[in-house]
Amino acid sequence: MIQVKKLEKSYNNVNHLHILQNLNLTVEEGEFLGIMGASGSGKSTFLRILGGLETFLDGEAAVCGENLQTMKEPEKEVYRQKVVSYIFQDYNLLSGLTVKENIILPSTMGNVEEKKLEQDYAAITQKLGIDAYENRFPDEISGGEQQRAAIARAVLKHSRVLLADEPTGSLDMHTARNVLELFEEINRDYHVTVVMVTHDVFSASFCNRIIFLKDGKFTNEIEKSGFQQDFYKIIQKEMREMDGIF
Ligand SMILES: Nc1ncnc2c1ncn2[C@@H]1O[C@H](COP(=O)(O)OP(=O)(O)OP(=O)(O)O)[C@@H](O)[C@H]1O
Ligand SMILES: [Mg+2]
Repeated sequence: MIQVKKLEKSYNNVNHLHILQNLNLTVEEGEFLGIMGASGSGKSTFLRILGGLETFLDGEAAVCGENLQTMKEPEKEVYRQKVVSYIFQDYNLLSGLTVKENIILPSTMGNVEEKKLEQDYAAITQKLGIDAYENRFPDEISGGEQQRAAIARAVLKHSRVLLADEPTGSLDMHTARNVLELFEEINRDYHVTVVMVTHDVFSASFCNRIIFLKDGKFTNEIEKSGFQQDFYKIIQKEMREMDGIF
């Protein structure tokens, strides 16, 4: 589903200052993968590359068979519309549209029937507790509510791959749990492949596998084999062993 080989990235194509170095990764269809690492380690840069939002210097990256290395801008726009859903770290809602318009807009570009779209919209916004705010504008709701609107927008699109950058960063534990359960649901019931960047051990414990990024390199990975509580402890231990980089 996702194939990355020897990926290199530097901003402004400065060779000696590589933000991402020799990244290799395979993600199978239906995985729920977590990416963890210190601030500035390159997590968002990597996710943006997968989302077709950023170019890279060298190596290969393909998502659902779409080659991101050779793809030109008009194709990338279609790729961003049809293949992936993206939850931005800073939400990226359009300020001139209401919450409902923001959530629905990208989905109207697909071919989902209007009635089904309305049904899904109602279920998702209710689950995320933002149904009461649908007629407000983004600057009339809190940061956490904006984050949930950005999540609803991405989930409603029903893409095959969901890329989520710190999707629970502004949420309390209870709301974060609802979001993570929603991800679990679409991952399990619709086989959506989820890649989630997170700092948070609780959020990470919902993933099936976690890779750690340090200074632009993948250092190690862990896989869930038992209960979520056990995985939580394993992630904590891994983070301690990585010398408290978080
Ligand atoms: N547009 C840019 N131009 C130049 N450097 C950038 C740009 N965007 C990010 N960087 C640098 O690239 C590195 C990785 O940034 P990135 O945003 O990927 O980190 P991150 O792991 O997502 O961090 P955080 O956890 O704080 O969100 C950082 O050193 C950052 O300063
Ligand atoms: Mg980031």
